[in-house]
Amino acid sequence: MLFLVYFLFLGTNHGHSIEVNIEQPLILSVSSKSRETVSSVVPIDREVQIHFDTEAAYDRIALFDLNPHEGTREPIYVIDQDKISESNGFVQTNVSLGNPELPHGWALHSTDLGQAGDQCLPIWAAAYKNSKIATTDCLKIRPTWMQDNRLFIGNLDVRSLLIPGTHNSGCYKRGEKISLRETIGRYILTQDQSVWNQLVYGIRYLDFRIGYYPPKDNTSVTDDDESRFWINHDLIKVRPLAPVVGQIKKFLERTSNEVVIIDFHRFPIGFNMRQERHQALVSYLERELKEYAIPYANQPLTLDKIWTTQQRLIISYGENSVAKAKDWLWPPVKQIWGNKATTKDLEDFLAAVVTNDSFQFPETGLWALMAQLTPSPLELLFNPKGSLREMAHKVNPQLLRWCQRSEWWPKLRIVATDFFLETDIVNLAVSANVLKGHHDKRYETD
Ligand SMILES: *[C@@H]1O[C@H](CO)[C@@H](O)[C@H](O)[C@H]1NC(C)=O
Ligand SMILES: *[C@@H]1O[C@H](CO)[C@@H](O)[C@H](O)[C@H]1NC(C)=O
Ligand SMILES: *[C@@H]1O[C@H](CO)[C@@H](O)[C@H](O)[C@H]1NC(C)=O
Repeated sequence: MLFLVYFLFLGTNHGHSIEVNIEQPLILSVSSKSRETVSSVVPIDREVQIHFDTEAAYDRIALFDLNPHEGTREPIYVIDQDKISESNGFVQTNVSLGNPELPHGWALHSTDLGQAGDQCLPIWAAAYKNSKIATTDCLKIRPTWMQDNRLFIGNLDVRSLLIPGTHNSGCYKRGEKISLRETIGRYILTQDQSVWNQLVYGIRYLDFRIGYYPPKDNTSVTDDDESRFWINHDLIKVRPLAPVVGQIKKFLERTSNEVVIIDFHRFPIGFNMRQERHQALVSYLERELKEYAIPYANQPLTLDKIWTTQQRLIISYGENSVAKAKDWLWPPVKQIWGNKATTKDLEDFLAAVVTNDSFQFPETGLWALMAQLTPSPLELLFNPKGSLREMAHKVNPQLLRWCQRSEWWPKLRIVATDFFLETDIVNLAVSANVLKGHHDKRYETD
């Protein structure tokens, strides 16, 4: 099994062994689905999923809301041996993660400084063999994973990292019963966590489409007022840009070694043939973010090098003529879209990209694998139950398995997902980068 091949023992640190696996024996994820119930006013969402190694022959798997190693705990959900043997390594539970306050100072409005390192949310799983705990895991935030693994990944070129990302990162909202308006919303929302939360969970690539909306009347709004810029999903405006930029800035202020890529990918409304509006957006970004922006140079750039300065933000601008005029703007990120309607077609398409050597040259620049299905026009019009949540739910659990393949993970760069908590992409990226960094070191000394 891959599990044995891609297992790396990195020695011991204060008596704790440090191990890195690509295939974890037990993985927790969170469903992208949202379901209506008769008894509840709001739809039920964020239900926990458990993936496990079928060859491990566990006799029981249980969920807890506290660390099962610390004393005797009552489980909140139990999977017995019969269910384990018939479930093919995946169980969808009805335990909702809900909306827990992010722990240890990592809530957006916390006045504390967030504590470095991985932090568990109150969802734990334990897998048992012969009535003893064989392995455990928790759903976690990984707010400082680059800093935490700096000794292992510092030698890597930023262009060779596996970067966990989100698609249409600003298109999030949660809750309320589905109304007519929400029917449109079903094909607009791609995330259900704020950009701040995404970063705290470990996402490091953010994708934005920006719309420009001139004021309707002559109010106090000046020409380059930031309130004119909105995050769009194509032609639909979803939320103002400024608060999201504020969240990104706050994250950079509260961490010291996390490198973030922001991709201002397209400008679907209000920018066509309007250079002055691009200039207004660039001036706004310059005021807010330039102090963190890594200058662009088409040459190798290791994390160690980046960490010698305060600049940890890559700002890519989708309009190359505009990007070229500023040394702190990076050229457009290539987004690799399959435009596929079925999971199988998407898998084949992504496999062809991943195994195509032309994507492996650093000179290709930054590129992102877009790991989502594309709804067909018929789907949009005639499937009343359809939504981007449903589509993400078809892909995400499988994406997790595809990315674990030995032909895939070493070659992945940015992977942009919808409803990312259903993918385990952050954990996979951390392990893959540690293994890549280790490999590079060994390669150099050989
Ligand atoms: C979850 O499912 C179990 C049975 O599988 C049921 O007993 C329990 O009431 C359900 N809990 C919720 C919150 O729906
Ligand atoms: C807004 O101001 C401009 C000149 O500053 C004027 O031409 C235009 O008619 C005004 N529009 C409205 C809706 O008041
Ligand atoms: C690899 O990708 C390049 C650039 O996108 C393309 O021109 C080429 O045909 C691909 N090769 C294969 C074998 O698919």
